[in-house]
Amino acid sequence: MTVAVIGTGKMGSGLARLIASKGIDVAIGHKDPAKAAALAEEIGRRAQGGGAEAAAKLADVVILAVPYTQATEALKGAGDLTGKIVVDISNPITPDYKALTVGHTTSAAEEIQKLVPGAKVVKAWNTVFAELLPAEAHEGRPAPVQVFVAGDDEEAKKTVSDLVRATGFEPVESGPLTNSRYLEPVGEINIHFGFFLGWGTSAAPAWIKN
Ligand SMILES: NC(=O)c1ccc[n+]([C@@H]2O[C@H](COP(=O)([O-])OP(=O)(O)OC[C@H]3O[C@@H](n4cnc5c(N)ncnc54)[C@H](OP(=O)(O)O)[C@@H]3O)[C@@H](O)[C@H]2O)c1
Repeated sequence: MTVAVIGTGKMGSGLARLIASKGIDVAIGHKDPAKAAALAEEIGRRAQGGGAEAAAKLADVVILAVPYTQATEALKGAGDLTGKIVVDISNPITPDYKALTVGHTTSAAEEIQKLVPGAKVVKAWNTVFAELLPAEAHEGRPAPVQVFVAGDDEEAKKTVSDLVRATGFEPVESGPLTNSRYLEPVGEINIHFGFFLGWGTSAAPAWIKN
């Protein structure tokens, strides 16, 4: 399997590094192909980088790691995503990080699905700070960090859940894509814990069953 990662920022670089470290091929894409190529060069084995369209073409799973405000432009740059799994990791936050810009009756994930109707959008990783992506960040934790996975296509959700597990996280089946309306607020409260309430960026939600 090849996973494309669009974006080379905190989440994009962290996910690309992590996925490659697990022996999975990663194609990194960016509007500036040189930026993606430089990150791939740094990661080394299993990684290649270039334009977003070229990266997406190589992959069945495309992780969109750009700010929600850039989703439309980034998806256009990624070309035809028909039939592909698009993983939305975004939290649609205000510039001061303190609130969401969409919610209640829709979510970033649902709006992204409207932009790529032929793709299978799956929400994941939006409640995990970039600082928790390196494998070392999990050392000493009593249980794996949970990643909430929501989507309408069961097979796509299974593929993403397998990827989540392969990268050292615990996937939590979170229902249909509309449940992103509730997962994005969880991402927002995690930002408040991490940045405004003094917990730091190792904060992560843990849902307890039974
Ligand atoms: N940071 C976190 O801890 C965290 C946690 C959970 C979820 N998220 C979500 O993850 C997403 C990425 O966050 P981040 O913190 O990684 O942001 P970031 O560090 O600002 O990185 C964003 C990346 O997107 C790239 N980009 C912007 N427009 C693009 C386009 N049209 N085509 C291709 N690439 C484009 C940026 O390139 P340039 O730098 O060249 O502009 C940059 O590489 C956001 O939706 C955020 O809500 C973040």
